[in-house]
Amino acid sequence: MILTVTLNPSIDKFYQIDRLRPYEVQRVGEVNNTAGGKGLNVSRVAALSGEAVTAMGFVGGHNGALFESLISQPNIRRSFTQTQAETRCCVNVFDMERKKSTEFLEPGNPVTPEETARFLEEYNRQLPGADVVTLSGSMPKGLPSDFYARLIEAAHRLGKPVILDTNGDALRAAIAAGPEWIKPNADEIRQIAQGDTTTLEGVIAAAKELHQGGIAHVAVSLGKDGVAVVCESGVYRGITPDIPVVNTVGCGDSMVAGFAVGTVRGCSVEETIRIAVAVSTANALTKETGSFRMEDFNRILPQVKVIRSDL
Ligand SMILES: Nc1ncnc2c1ncn2[C@@H]1O[C@H](COP(=O)(O)OP(=O)(O)OP(=O)(O)O)[C@@H](O)[C@H]1O
Ligand SMILES: [Mg+2]
Repeated sequence: MILTVTLNPSIDKFYQIDRLRPYEVQRVGEVNNTAGGKGLNVSRVAALSGEAVTAMGFVGGHNGALFESLISQPNIRRSFTQTQAETRCCVNVFDMERKKSTEFLEPGNPVTPEETARFLEEYNRQLPGADVVTLSGSMPKGLPSDFYARLIEAAHRLGKPVILDTNGDALRAAIAAGPEWIKPNADEIRQIAQGDTTTLEGVIAAAKELHQGGIAHVAVSLGKDGVAVVCESGVYRGITPDIPVVNTVGCGDSMVAGFAVGTVRGCSVEETIRIAVAVSTANALTKETGSFRMEDFNRILPQVKVIRSDL
């Protein structure tokens, strides 16, 4: 089972309008609500890949009930901690004419110490059944800054590998706990590395340093340029085929799901990278965020190139 943790979920509302005109009343064409938050993208993609998923995090109020009802895949088990406060909403207004989004992200409410304690209890209950844990996204207010580090340590006490995908202070505070995988993108590696990360050589040098600091697999995702992974057995480049992109939001989360799927299946690093690149590329071919079509995945998988060089 893949245990996914989304501490700061939201109901993502997608409004499609002809053209965005500020300070006017506007009617929305298409409306679409999804259970959002990076860990939910991971959950959906891992479940679509055929794996059993247990999704955890904080949800609350009427929005929380709506949020849970929007998770419809049968192989995603929900194990959310209920909060007093309402789950936040995030609105993405898509201007059809200019093909551009304007996003409104609610800050969300703080979680209480009592809610945090209940979450930890549930997390410790789920850990023994997990093959791998994914920790994704930002943290709500009210949690200590080393919260991810604590979740990693608890997983390690039971010998469970952890994949971490977050940014800024949460990432800096958590890498000391030595997760098995991190997946910064080009911006995020800049936040945690010294030196120039604008070139591929610089990115690999930074990834090597993080690897030496105790992270078994440092995977830096590079958008259409694929991924660079530094681990014990060498430096790997995963290269995507050229595709007609539809929507790249959630590609990084899909890649995290791919790493989790490869880990659960006991795949080699090379196979795991191939799965992760193929599934994240397939995500870019669908309008939905954190989703893919199996036929796209199956077509792309043999086209992904994985090249290894020595450390
Ligand atoms: N334009 C693209 N064409 C092909 N594959 C892509 C493209 N963009 C992303 N991908 C695939 O998705 C992976 C992750 O993408 P990216 O580096 O953009 O992640 P990210 O910035 O963390 O995304 P997010 O946080 O929105 O989920 C890439 O390594 C690649 O395999
Ligand atoms: Mg990302």
